[in-house]
Amino acid sequence: MEDVPSYYIEVGVMNENLHDTPSPEECVARIFELSGTKLEPDVASGLWQQILNHKWFLSEKVGRDIGMRAACIDFLENIQQATGEYKAYKNRNILNEMGAQVIGRSIWNTIADTQPPKQLVKRRIILPLTREGLSRKHGVVPPKTILFFGPPGTGKTHFARAIAGILSWWYVEIAPSMLMVDGMEKIGANLRSIMEKVRILDELVLFIDEFEEIAASRDNGDRIDKSITNEFLKQLPLLKNQGNKILLVCATNYIQQLDEAMLRPGRFDCIIPVGGLDREGSKTILQNYLSKLNVGEIDLNQVAEMTTGFTPADIEYLFQKIAQFAFEQELATKQDYRVTTETLLQIIPTIRPSLTDKTREKFEKDIVAYSRF
Ligand SMILES: Nc1ncnc2c1ncn2[C@@H]1O[C@H](COP(=O)(O)OP(=O)(O)O)[C@@H](O)[C@H]1O
Ligand SMILES: [Mg+2]
Repeated sequence: MEDVPSYYIEVGVMNENLHDTPSPEECVARIFELSGTKLEPDVASGLWQQILNHKWFLSEKVGRDIGMRAACIDFLENIQQATGEYKAYKNRNILNEMGAQVIGRSIWNTIADTQPPKQLVKRRIILPLTREGLSRKHGVVPPKTILFFGPPGTGKTHFARAIAGILSWWYVEIAPSMLMVDGMEKIGANLRSIMEKVRILDELVLFIDEFEEIAASRDNGDRIDKSITNEFLKQLPLLKNQGNKILLVCATNYIQQLDEAMLRPGRFDCIIPVGGLDREGSKTILQNYLSKLNVGEIDLNQVAEMTTGFTPADIEYLFQKIAQFAFEQELATKQDYRVTTETLLQIIPTIRPSLTDKTREKFEKDIVAYSRF
C-alpha cells in the first residue's frame, strides 16, 4: 500500500461505484448532490461513468486526488461549453445555408405609427416578445404564426422584415419556387427538411411569401398541392410546440384561395390585413424617398393628396421615375436640377394607383371575412 498514491485509495473506496451500474435515477441523484446540476435520467446515466473517468484523469494530471465534487463540476462545465459551441457552429451553418439576413432596426421607422397594421403588430407581437416578464405575469402568449394578407405592394414583405429588424432577430425568406427546385414531387419533403432545420434555430423570423402557392385549397388543387398543404399543416404544431423564439410570417395576395383548414383557429395565431395607406403613412414614405433625392421646395401635403390610392410599391416606383427624370434633366441642361412639387405633380399622373375602388372594396370584404387578431 505504501507506494500507492492516496488518490488511488480514494478511488478504491469508490470502487463499488466504479463497478456497479447505478440506476439512471441514482445517477441523477449523485450528480445533483455533487454539482447542483439536475440532468435527465438517461443523460445522467450516460455521463456517470465519464465523470468517474474524468476524476481519475484529472487526479493523474495534477498528481493528487481532486475529489468527486470538483471532478463532476469540471466535467459538466466543459461539456456544457463544448455542446454550446457545437450548437452555435451548427446553427451558423444552417443560417448560412438558408441565406439568413440581419435587418437593421431603422426599417421600423420607415413606417408611420398610423400606418396599418403597425400598431397592431406592435401590440400583439413586438411588445409581448420584448416585455417577456410582463407578458408572462399576465399570461399573454406571443403569437408564433401569423398570416398577412392584402393587395400586392402594400408592404407585407416590408412588415415581415421590419419585425425582424426591430426584434433584432434573424430573417429568412422562403419563396414557394425554392421548394420546387427538385421537382414537384419533392415539395413536401423540402418543406419538411427546411422546417426541421428552422426548429433548431432561435430568434428568427421565417417569412414565406406567395403563401397561396403552398396552401391553395385542396379542393381546387391537384395532388401536389394537397401533399404540400398537408405537410404544412403537419409542420405547424411542431413549430408552435418548440420553445425557441421563432415567428413564422406567411403572406398572400389571394386569401380567398387558401385552404379552409389553414384559416381555422389554432393554425395562424393572427390573420392580419396589410394595406390602405393613411395620409400620415404616405407622407412618411414620401419623405423617406425624398430624402434620397436632390430636392428643392416640396409641399408634402399636396403631394400626399395627389398619391391617394398609391401603395408603398407605387410610391417606390414613382421615385424611380423621378430619380431618372431629374438625372436626365441635369444631363440635358447641364444645370443643377432640383426635384420640386412641380416635378412630382408632373409625374404622379403618369402612374396608375394600384388601389382602385374595386380592389379596395374587395379588400374590405376580405378584412371582414378573414381578419383575426
Ligand atoms: N412604410 C412602408 N410600408 C410598406 N412598404 C414600404 C414602406 N416604405 C417603403 N416601402 C417599400 O414599398 C414596397 C412594398 O412592397 P412589399 O413589401 O414587397 O409589398 P407586398 O409584400 O405586400 O407585395 C417595398 O419595396 C418596400 O420596401
Ligand atoms: Mg412581397
